[in-house]
Amino acid sequence: MKLFQSEHFTYRDNRLFCENLPIDKIAKDIETPVYVYSKNYMKERYIQFDNAFKDIKHKIFYACKANYNINVIKLFNDLGAGIDVNSAGEFYRAIKAGVDPKNLIFSGVGKTSKEIKLALENNIFIIKAESFEEIELINKIAGKLNKVAPIAIRVNPNVNPLTHPYISTGLAENKFGVDETIAEEIFINASQLQNINLLGIDMHIGSQITKIEPYVEATQKLVELVKTLSTKGINLSHIDLGGGIGVNYDDEKPFTPKELSEALLPILAETNCEVLFEPGRWLVANAGCFVTEVLFVKKNLEKNFLVVDGAMNDLLRPSIYSAYHHIQPIDISNRESFVTDIVGPICESGDFLGKKREINKCNSGDLLAVMSAGAYGMVMSSNYNARRRPAEVLVDGSNYSIIRKRETLEQMIQNEELV
Ligand code: LLP
Repeated sequence: MKLFQSEHFTYRDNRLFCENLPIDKIAKDIETPVYVYSKNYMKERYIQFDNAFKDIKHKIFYACKANYNINVIKLFNDLGAGIDVNSAGEFYRAIKAGVDPKNLIFSGVGKTSKEIKLALENNIFIIKAESFEEIELINKIAGKLNKVAPIAIRVNPNVNPLTHPYISTGLAENKFGVDETIAEEIFINASQLQNINLLGIDMHIGSQITKIEPYVEATQKLVELVKTLSTKGINLSHIDLGGGIGVNYDDEKPFTPKELSEALLPILAETNCEVLFEPGRWLVANAGCFVTEVLFVKKNLEKNFLVVDGAMNDLLRPSIYSAYHHIQPIDISNRESFVTDIVGPICESGDFLGKKREINKCNSGDLLAVMSAGAYGMVMSSNYNARRRPAEVLVDGSNYSIIRKRETLEQMIQNEELV
């Protein structure tokens, strides 16, 4: 069977290691299901991204929606990243992780007045607005607070990012940003508002994008707009290219940040703007795996099933996007393989982690690693079927820390009262 390995997830003597730690040790200590992350992978990815753009003025804002454990936020912030937050909840997490509000971008297509006030009162770096109505509201709230709001406007450049429809965001038909045909007018109108300081232009065209062309096309459109605006006296200080850079789940072979910078630098050279990025998945997806134990090996007619203790409530991506995550046993000493579905205990046929997978023959009690689970894994988990959310562990060399304990039954009902 195919094995998914990387520098920080390797098989040694038939056992899967995260960095220098055998993963079965974690499972033995704290049970399953559990998310396991490599700290050094995250660090190295950040440095690789940062280096790729070292020749231009730039800053990376980690999109913490991908993995918002406060330790993960802190790790990137300690490396010099700002943080992109999408709600008061993510804002709270970033503050708890020790991030200075001056290093926060507040994104989101539907911010509430309370969220706008929170951002302004804390003097965050920038609020990204997605409609003229929102800009007017920000202006009004800033006025009441006697402040001038630093904003960027998200433009929808109407390019096809060639990814899953649920995670395409830069097409005119998507709800995001202001459409390119009225963007100029909106910038001009916004620049006349008293309590608005118009600093930037932004895009985020989708997620898990593996081709460079959509970035090139969209960046060209934004740069053109920056140039037109400067002829009208509106000089922006930054251009934010968003996130969305794809990773390997199977054998996608996405472009690298270096290749992206080579393609974009000539276009960006036409402006003096600082360039911002908001990567999420690229920094964390392959930093993590989700570890689950086989409960039963069963067969219905001709079909094989491995019923495991992890489910769609823990890792939703396979169920809602038909996303592929490679699944492999932690112990591969048994080399005989078979084809099977890997399913969870939830009462829905949509509860699967993988379908028709070739995998080494397993027995109940064996451990499986669902790979590439560091992004949009834990953050999309729920309590469906009243299942407790899993634990999270951060590996550093041959040591690990529990960065989130498994949820308790008491925590699950703590906000409910019998009336
Ligand atoms: N900036 C903005 C404004 C975003 O909306 C997103 C992601 C990012 C940055 C980071 O994108 P990334 O670099 O991670 O692709 N749940 C889906 C992904 C949804 C992405 C939403 N926005 C999944 O599991 O594939």
